[in-house]
Amino acid sequence: MSTNKMWGGRFEGGPAKIMEEFTPSIGFDQRLAGEDLNGSRAHAKMLAIQGIITRVDLDAILKGLSTIEAEIREGTFEFKRALEDIHLNIESRLAELAGPAAGRLHTARSRNDQVATDFRLWVRAACTRADESLILLQQALLQQATANVTTIMPGFTHMQSAQPVTFAHYCLAYIEMFGRDRTRFADTAKRLNECPLGSAALAGTPYFIDREYTARQLGFARPMRNSLDGVSSRDFALEYLAAATIAATHLSKLAGELVQWCSPGFGFVKLSDAFTTGSSIMPQKRNPDAAELIRGKTGRVLGDFVALATVVKGLVLAYGTDLQEDKERVFDAADALEPSLKVMAGMFADLTVNTARMRALANAGYPTATDLADWLVQNLNMPFRDAHHVTGSIVKRAEELGVDLDHLPLEEMQKIEPAITADVMKVLSVEASVAARMSYGGTAPDRVREQIFFWKEKLK
Ligand code: ARG
Repeated sequence: MSTNKMWGGRFEGGPAKIMEEFTPSIGFDQRLAGEDLNGSRAHAKMLAIQGIITRVDLDAILKGLSTIEAEIREGTFEFKRALEDIHLNIESRLAELAGPAAGRLHTARSRNDQVATDFRLWVRAACTRADESLILLQQALLQQATANVTTIMPGFTHMQSAQPVTFAHYCLAYIEMFGRDRTRFADTAKRLNECPLGSAALAGTPYFIDREYTARQLGFARPMRNSLDGVSSRDFALEYLAAATIAATHLSKLAGELVQWCSPGFGFVKLSDAFTTGSSIMPQKRNPDAAELIRGKTGRVLGDFVALATVVKGLVLAYGTDLQEDKERVFDAADALEPSLKVMAGMFADLTVNTARMRALANAGYPTATDLADWLVQNLNMPFRDAHHVTGSIVKRAEELGVDLDHLPLEEMQKIEPAITADVMKVLSVEASVAARMSYGGTAPDRVREQIFFWKEKLK
């Protein structure tokens, strides 16, 4: 192998055979091609405006870059491992197309600020895509919420039946979580939106460049203030991965619940054919593969975060090739998260709610015991702790008789607390319990309708 034509001047021998396999990033960073071309366009225009290269050179460069863009789009561009990465692949092809002008493009620039710029552009777009997919998911949840304002289901704490809630209320809880995820991606995109281009290798450049111009051309709010920081910081990638990890954990919770809920033991929901698979051996099966895969992919996304945090944690300023390890972690996380969000949106919009089954299980386990205690407090002026105790005894009696609280004869309750009147019956059904939870953010249908209205406006 001959010496590399990009830095051949000082090199006599080529790389060891194994290095040709080990060092290239072209296998994955070709995904930055679009960003790299745009970065080069902005840089070349700036060089021409500043009189660092001629208009003639600029035209040759821009024409060459357009040809390369077309070649990549049409799949005729030949990515070469010997040229290491996307930056050198494009520059080398540009030399074939534009001649000596191509050699002037790298003036006042280094691959270090180049890759940092490309990668920021890519992550910025990934934040937008995550947001779009999160909106789809919120809309699917909102659709189910709207249809299920009075669908009562058990609300759990410790996975024990606690108090009844509505399915709409449940859906809205996830809409809130995914809403916060959106703000995390938006924050990430906003904070990363500064341009490293012009930081050059690490120290800046003696050329009279215009960093405001290149920043503006690429849609950045401003150039980064410090060139050492510009080439070396990857906290924007970590922020993306952190936001992705948190969104993935929300997805994982939701997916995990769906896996439980579609099992015969619960039977709360039925997933559509489109989002389930059969078993090759057990004909009765209808497996929630999509939900399980979404749940499983969370591990991958968190792993990506941990991996990149570990890569950057001990690095000295400024650039080190360790940083080449950043891209695959982010690509991998995005490739896991984006389809997971879309699949969950489709699966959730498609699912059928078994309202009868939810209602039946909502009754199990004396979920209106708190309502009884509250009645004792409000009507008999009992201290809550005493009411709690009395209610415990009444629940025990109901259990002995094998009936729900709203089917326990009044006399049985009066044997335990003589002051109880027939009025208590109106708070003991799950419907009454839900309707009573009128506090702000509570599960009462009127409150839930307010939440639905809020999100309908917001997601318009
Ligand atoms: N392929 C490299 C990366 O992904 C580009 C920057 C290389 N710079 C250098 N000085 N080796 O980070």
